[in-house]
Amino acid sequence: MIRLRLPALFVFALLVAVGAASLPLRAQQDNGLPAGEGRDIVAVTCTQCHSITAVTQLREGRAAWRHQIYDMIERGAQVSPADIDVMVNYLATHFGPGIPFPGPTPVHITLPAGAGQTIVDSRCSLCHGIDRVVAVKRTHAQWTGIVNRMVYLGAPITPDQTKTVLDYLNANFGA
Ligand code: HEC
Ligand code: HEC
Repeated sequence: MIRLRLPALFVFALLVAVGAASLPLRAQQDNGLPAGEGRDIVAVTCTQCHSITAVTQLREGRAAWRHQIYDMIERGAQVSPADIDVMVNYLATHFGPGIPFPGPTPVHITLPAGAGQTIVDSRCSLCHGIDRVVAVKRTHAQWTGIVNRMVYLGAPITPDQTKTVLDYLNANFGA
């Protein structure tokens, strides 16, 4: 009996030891963030005050992510200056415009014809659904503010296109 049991116990202990040793690795892989340089810094730094979904559900360009990090530092986030660039790079690469966003696929919306239709259709759907764009009628001032904000957030439209987009939004979704 004893001679049979000991090897079994030994194997069991070995399995437990191997399992325990691989835990930290599993915890790292399960942080839900895509692999890449900067992932673990982001995973640790950006979950001190809120869940990581604040990051993963958002889509922003490089400059906006940089400002987001500065904003979080002002709110108390502990970020080493040397880590800022690598974090910006990680966030812009994995949570930038055009990276599929979580949640249900937005309903397809056929926009009214007109100059600007193609730009709005292709550019204003990179970070959220078009449903968000057409949901509410807005004044000229509101559209101007929103479109400027979208450009700041990283919407890839040139100043010339901005005017076309504004004319289009005011004509079709103006208050
Ligand atoms: C010291 C606490 C703290 C840390 C650490 C922190 N945040 Fe925040 N974060 C906040 C607070 C507070 C808000 C809510 C701000 C608001 O509602 O205006 C917030 C909100 C956000 C939002 C949502 C903003 C929006 O427009 O919806 C994003 C994105 C975000 N944080 C990203 C980050 C990133 C990236 C990091 C890591 C660099 C980080 N946070 C670390 C405090 C923190
Ligand atoms: C780089 C990513 C990005 C692109 C591209 C983008 N948006 Fe946004 N948009 C956001 C984010 C992030 C929010 C929510 C946070 C905010 O309002 O600051 C948002 C919110 C909105 C809202 C809701 C604002 C409100 O006050 O309720 C409207 C309307 C909107 N976008 C219109 C547009 C239009 C029009 C375009 C094309 C010109 C566009 N978006 C392109 C990121 C983007």
